Amino acid sequence: MIFTIFGNPVEHSKSPLMHNHFFKKKDLNHCYTRYLLEDGSQIIQKFKELKLKGANVTVPHKEWAYKKADEVRGVAKEMGAVNTLVLENGKVIGYNTDGPGFMEVIKAFDYKNPLIIGAGGTARAISFLLKADIVNRSEKRLEFFKQRGFNTYTWDTFEFKNYDLIINTTSAGLKDENLPMPKKMLEKIFQNAKYAVDVVYGKKTPFLKLAEQYNLQTRDGLYLLVYQGILAMELFLGENLDKKEVEQIYFEILRN
Ligand SMILES: NC(=O)c1ccc[n+]([C@@H]2O[C@H](COP(=O)([O-])OP(=O)(O)OC[C@H]3O[C@@H](n4cnc5c(N)ncnc54)[C@H](OP(=O)(O)O)[C@@H]3O)[C@@H](O)[C@H]2O)c1
Repeated sequence: MIFTIFGNPVEHSKSPLMHNHFFKKKDLNHCYTRYLLEDGSQIIQKFKELKLKGANVTVPHKEWAYKKADEVRGVAKEMGAVNTLVLENGKVIGYNTDGPGFMEVIKAFDYKNPLIIGAGGTARAISFLLKADIVNRSEKRLEFFKQRGFNTYTWDTFEFKNYDLIINTTSAGLKDENLPMPKKMLEKIFQNAKYAVDVVYGKKTPFLKLAEQYNLQTRDGLYLLVYQGILAMELFLGENLDKKEVEQIYFEILRN
């Protein structure tokens, strides 16, 4: 069976590496490729043309995948965004594994009061399942969350509560050494926190470095990548997998 990831750009995606390693380890005769898709509105047509069994969808096509899928199931319906497409009985079904994948990442954490930093697409996906307060650098993107009843803050209006789980969903630290909030504010937040999670992967971000200085338990963005991938693979193969085993297989290749 053939699988792909649709995106633009897509050459940086680690999904082919991860999933092909899994197929190899499990002796499965499948192949996972990448596809640079410019016109998102063509996504389902391409899916069918390429005779795919399944696909992942990354920036900027998640909304097109939602709009064009033959049917959308699960949390993707509320999110308005699809990151996984699966051929089921001749129909292309859309799912979203970003939010559920994130919940797997924090499953072992004993938290009460989560705080999400950032208000973009990733924050939206996570917040559908995790009722958290949201703080963002600027006002505009907060509107979406405000309308849905979340407590939202900019840096200027932020109120320090005892947040115990802090999640960075911004791209700060990805290509620079920036923190997602002013250092003094983050330090004050970290004083009372237990856990810090970043969605950026490929490096130890200034956010996670600072969290470690405060002895917080941390998870980098590879965990989200891995868990959204495990849930997508379960949908692709139509079976429940031993998540611990698959996690090990994915980390083995990604950490090298
Ligand atoms: N690990 C994974 O599997 C995974 C999955 C999805 C995404 N990601 C990563 O998540 C990150 C965000 O993606 P996205 O699609 O959610 O982005 P997005 O929709 O463009 O949103 C970006 C958010 O980051 C904020 N921001 C950007 N630069 C900042 C800075 N220097 N300081 C403070 N805030 C800043 C923006 O604030 P304003 O509103 O003020 O502009 C906005 O809230 C990317 O790095 C992406 O690679 C990882």
